[in-house]
Amino acid sequence: MRHLAVLAALLAVAAAGPRERRQANGDYQVCRAGAGVCVPYYLCSDDTVITDGTGIIDIRTGSECANFLDVCCTNPTGPVTPTPIPPFVSTCGTRNYNGIDVRIQGFEGNETQVAEFPWMTAVLKKEVVSSEEINLYLCGGSLIHPSIVLTAAHCVHNHAAGDLRVRLGEWDTQNEYEPYKHQDRDIASVVIHPGFNPGNLHNDYALLYLQTPAELSRNVDVICLDNDLTILNPQHDCLVTGWGKDRFGKKGVFQNVLKKIELPYVLPGQCQDALRTTRLSKLFILDPSFLCAGGEAGKDSCSGDGGSPLVCLDRTKTQYVQVGIVAWGIGCGTSNIPGVYANVLYGYNWIVNEADKLLAGPVVDYWNYQ
Ligand code: ARG
Repeated sequence: MRHLAVLAALLAVAAAGPRERRQANGDYQVCRAGAGVCVPYYLCSDDTVITDGTGIIDIRTGSECANFLDVCCTNPTGPVTPTPIPPFVSTCGTRNYNGIDVRIQGFEGNETQVAEFPWMTAVLKKEVVSSEEINLYLCGGSLIHPSIVLTAAHCVHNHAAGDLRVRLGEWDTQNEYEPYKHQDRDIASVVIHPGFNPGNLHNDYALLYLQTPAELSRNVDVICLDNDLTILNPQHDCLVTGWGKDRFGKKGVFQNVLKKIELPYVLPGQCQDALRTTRLSKLFILDPSFLCAGGEAGKDSCSGDGGSPLVCLDRTKTQYVQVGIVAWGIGCGTSNIPGVYANVLYGYNWIVNEADKLLAGPVVDYWNYQ
């Protein structure tokens, strides 16, 4: 009886589409050495009234099921030989639109799904407080190679490599319930653009070389870089992600769950004109190492988003390419005043050359993402 009920439910779920959870090879994940299958918890029940759950559920901690809402249930079709989970294949700039394994419903704001932007990185400062080491959040960053994080120079130029750390694959900074764990990496060296000017933030580019490479996986992957200027076009779909404040000033609060905001790219002339209406005055000149995005009321990056990536969909609309790094703004989210970003296309040659030097010798074709 029980097996039939589970089988019927499995079939129903198989037909249901978006809720089904299968491996890439079309099979449900096998658990308990082939005796069970991982199914959503509501499919695994028993006719017997069980009041304490014994034998029915696998408590989430330590469960073999990759999906954190799944439980291991006796396989209705009998034991099978487990097939290995296919290895993860890295593709730069791949957004997990529906998160991984589970789409969280009911998000109305700008919260991202789990691992929606697997290149998103938190740049942390290690600090010892009463003989205990803690991580202080400094800035955002992006993984551009398994060993290299790109961030803003203004975030790290005052810090020694040994004091820095990056966290990859993070989503909710206050909890550890994500199905795939984050990866922390210490920093072996920091490379700041020689033209970086801490006063006006010209050339706000920095590379962090990780002591050990990231393990690329479903929640940790690289963003694409490109020097194709056609990506910068006001029609392109661009967005910025960050854990920064929701608004400017004392009342703004830092975000726990990674946020995203879609922004239009703003042409440099138009941006310079807009910025000339602010306290920067009408003599302000927008340096070519900057680019602008936003300018819609309430839609902007803000304090704490420094170093975070601004990305746009490429020509094929399948992969995201990083075009900017959050640098500065005049307040946050003011109508007609765009946010200012380090221009990653302008800095492309420096970034790629320095990255190749860090990787000791040119890595042929690594940066050509197609
Ligand atoms: N300088 C700020 C930081 O490092 C970023 C400010 C971005 N402001 C804006 N309006 N887009 O956190």
